Parts: sequence; C-alpha cells; structure tokens
Amino acid sequence: MSQADNAQIRTVTEAEIEKQREYAALVSTAVSLRYPQGAPKAFVHTYGCQGNVADGERLEGMLIESGYELTDDLNSADLVLYNTCAIREHAEDRLIGNVGALKVIKKQRPSMKIVLCGCMMQQEWAAEKIRKSYPFVDIVFGTHAIYKLPELLYRNFTSGKRVFDIEDEAGVIAEGLPVHRDSNFKAWIPIMYGCNNFCSYCIVPYVRGRERSRDPQIILEEARQLVAAGYKEITLLGQNVNSYGKGTDYNFSKLLRELNAIEGDFLIRFMTSHPKDCTFELLDTMAQCDKVAKHLHLPFQSGNNRVLKEMNRGYTREKYLSLLEYAYKVMPELSVTADVIVGFPGETYEEFLDTVSLVNEAKFTSMYTFIFSSRKGTKAEKMPDPVSREEKGKWFRELLDAQEAVAAKRSASCVGRTYRVLCESVSKGGLIEGRTQGNVIIEFPGSLDLIGGYHEVKVTESLTWILRGELIS
Ligand code: SAH
Ligand code: SF4
Ligand code: F3S
Repeated sequence: MSQADNAQIRTVTEAEIEKQREYAALVSTAVSLRYPQGAPKAFVHTYGCQGNVADGERLEGMLIESGYELTDDLNSADLVLYNTCAIREHAEDRLIGNVGALKVIKKQRPSMKIVLCGCMMQQEWAAEKIRKSYPFVDIVFGTHAIYKLPELLYRNFTSGKRVFDIEDEAGVIAEGLPVHRDSNFKAWIPIMYGCNNFCSYCIVPYVRGRERSRDPQIILEEARQLVAAGYKEITLLGQNVNSYGKGTDYNFSKLLRELNAIEGDFLIRFMTSHPKDCTFELLDTMAQCDKVAKHLHLPFQSGNNRVLKEMNRGYTREKYLSLLEYAYKVMPELSVTADVIVGFPGETYEEFLDTVSLVNEAKFTSMYTFIFSSRKGTKAEKMPDPVSREEKGKWFRELLDAQEAVAAKRSASCVGRTYRVLCESVSKGGLIEGRTQGNVIIEFPGSLDLIGGYHEVKVTESLTWILRGELIS
C-alpha cells in the first residue's frame, strides 16, 4: 500500500506504452496459434466506481489489442478478468465468492485464464490470499500496473507460471492506452487519479495512490474527439474533481469552461465533488456554462460536526449547507445528490439525528447511503465501534425513510413539467429510459431508435425515485 507523501508520481513514457503495444502484438500472435478456430473470448467484469469502470474500458482495449474478442458469456470465456473494488467489505466478499465459483469452470476448461486486478488486489493481504488459497488464478495486478496487462499476459503465456504485480507506487499516469468504450453516446473521461484526503474510513488513498491530474490539453483533445464521434454526454471522473490541477495555475473551473466551449450538442457531467474543495467559483462556473449539467454530486457523509472531524473530512455541517444555499441561489433548478455513512465508529444516535436533519434540510434528489464498513489499514479501523450492526441497520432504515419522503415530494413537483432527456436504455417493462440533466430517470413509451439521442418528455406521473412521462413530438 502506498502512503508515503514523498513518493513520486510517475508518468509512463511513450516508449513504455510502445513496449506494451509490442507485447500485445506478441500475445496476439500467440493466441492466434493457440486458438486456430477463431479469436478467444474474454469476459470482463468491473466492480466499484466509475473510475474503475473507466479503467475497465482500457483493460478491454488492451485485451482486444492482444487478440481477444469480448463476450458477455462467462461460461464460454477463454479469459475472465475481474477488475475489483475494495471500498466496503461487501464488495470484497462478493469478489471472493465469484472467484471461488470460477474454480468449477476452470476444472472443466483448464485452458481458461483467470485475471484479477484493481483496488482490492492492490492490497497486499488480498493478493497474498489469492496466491495461497486460489491457485487457479493466473494473473494478479494492482491499480498501478493496469497499463502493463499485455506484458503480464505475455509473461504468463510464455512461462506458464502465475504472474503477480502489485508494486507499491505513489501512482502513475498512463496516456495513450487503447479504450473500448461500453457506450457510443456516453463517455467517461478520468481527469485525475488517486486521492490525498485520507478520510479516516476510506481505503481509496491506499489502493489508488496519490492525487494526480491529467494534462488539460490531453483531456480537451479526448473530449473533442468524443464529441466529433457523436458522443452526447461526457462525465469527468476523479475522487475529488474540485482539486483538479492543484499546485498549477489551472483549475477545475477553467477545465469546465474550456470543455463548455467545444462546439456540439452534448452535456458535461462530473463526479465526485468534495465539499472541502468545492468553491463558489465552481458553482458560478456551473451556472454559467450551458453544457454543464445542473447536477451536483456532493457527498456529505455525516451531518454532525464531531463525526465529520473524526472522519477527517475538512468541513463542517454549516459550510456544507452554505455551499448548497449558494448553489441553489445561482442554479434554482439544480439537482443535488450525495453519499452518507451511517454508524461511523463512536457515532451516537443523537449525532446520527443530525444527519437525518441535514437530509431534511438539503432536499437531495437522491442519496447513496452506506453502513460503515471497517477497512484494513485505515484510521477508523482502530476506533472503538460499540454500536451493533443491528442497531446501525435501524438507523439506516430511518434515514432511508427520511430521504424517501424528501424525494417523493421533489418528484411530485415535477409532474406536468417537460424535460430534455438523453435516452439511454429500455426498462424491464419495455419503456424508454431517459435521463434528465438533474440525473433523474424518466421512463416513457417510445421506439428503440430514440436511444442515444436527446428528446423532450413531459412528466405525467411520479414514482419517488423515477418519473413516468410521454414523448413530446
Ligand atoms: N471521493 C468520494 C467518495 C468515493 S467512495 C468522496 O470523497 O466523496 C464512495 C462512497 O463510499 C463515499 O462517499 C462513502 O460514502 C462510501 N464509503 C467509503 N468508504 C466507506 C467505508 N469504509 N464504509 C462505508 N462507506 C464507505
Ligand atoms: Fe475516500 Fe475521502 Fe478520498 Fe473520497 S475524498 S476517495 S472518501 S479518502
Ligand atoms: Fe472501489 Fe477503487 Fe472505486 S475501492 S469505489 S473501485 S477507487
């Protein structure tokens, strides 16, 4: 795990990326000999946040360059890659369960390769566990070695031995990797990697390394190409996008303004904003840039100042609410979503009630609520945690009820109004699902060819978290 403050961020050189392309070509030749009947199939599954999904799209790109075809069918796959997450115990348990299940498949098809990478694998204990107890896993690597996938495949292919690469680094920036985007109208652009905040409960700084920003010119060029290719929505990703460019004379607001100036009909989204670094300048920029979605994902984690301090969040309840007040003032139509943790070690019921009252005040469109999960190596792991899981479960439901009432009221106020939505998918019931700027789904009857485009929909019904409507022709 990398925590050293003086460790260096490394930009992977073009020569190193070129070397990986050469490895990909070698692997591609090797697999074409091994699978003469046609390209082998790779099944890729990514757990966790959008940042990990963006990594997954690069891993897929490298697999394709290495001669693989992607498949959705795990049972017929020649290679299975799980890009893991470590944020909560549940994510890790699920991964271990899914890896365990591969044992049976591998018994039937011993030639199948199993590859594990990402945040969970960056932890030494997890990689060790795989090494000792899951001998049928072929390749394991951490978050800093993503760009090396072709080389690791090559080493495994040529040696027939298991390959582990979980080097402890402050972090790398690797440009120029091939990308296989999952959608042809919505794209992710990571603008920064890692995190320096060390919130006391959080594993991310340990598994993702130090905060580092990509060059704005490279980001702008990527965005221009996406817009030219017809993409309708670009989401900028980072654990704390508000501190993009820190230490330089460039900042996140500047990036938003330059992206906003790109010609075309597209929307810019971003996540995640950290209240500690969210400025009025950013809120003004959002308000002034017509292509920036009027949606702010601003996790608050707790409504109690003592708990916020113990979490090492760097802001108070008052500062958070003042940001919201200003945001709603400059963007009356703004939709705010948030993350919150229930049952942080030592949190009392009275302190938890401050979270409930903040939820009632803040009027979030929706909220992601998590019960605290102890993570190895974090500060919170060592804090006394006397409240039972069962009790925390009760608080959790109480908070969900509070937010549900807020959301239901908010949704009801949308009935009769018309929204421009990006049509994304089809619901289980066969309705088209469109997403508003505010990140709310409206489902409505319509034909499949609407998907991938912007359309006007009038809301006819509210269902707490989503809306129903009809297409305005
Ligand atoms: N960088 C973002 C959060 C990324 S993690 C931010 O600072 O807001 C996504 C969410 O997972 C967090 O907002 C937090 O609510 C939750 N989370 C992180 N670590 C957790 C833990 N140990 N237990 C429970 N929830 C956690
Ligand atoms: Fe984790 Fe805090 Fe960094 Fe978010 S800001 S990734 S919660 S350490
Ligand atoms: Fe999980 Fe890593 Fe993201 S821990 S939430 S995949 S940064």
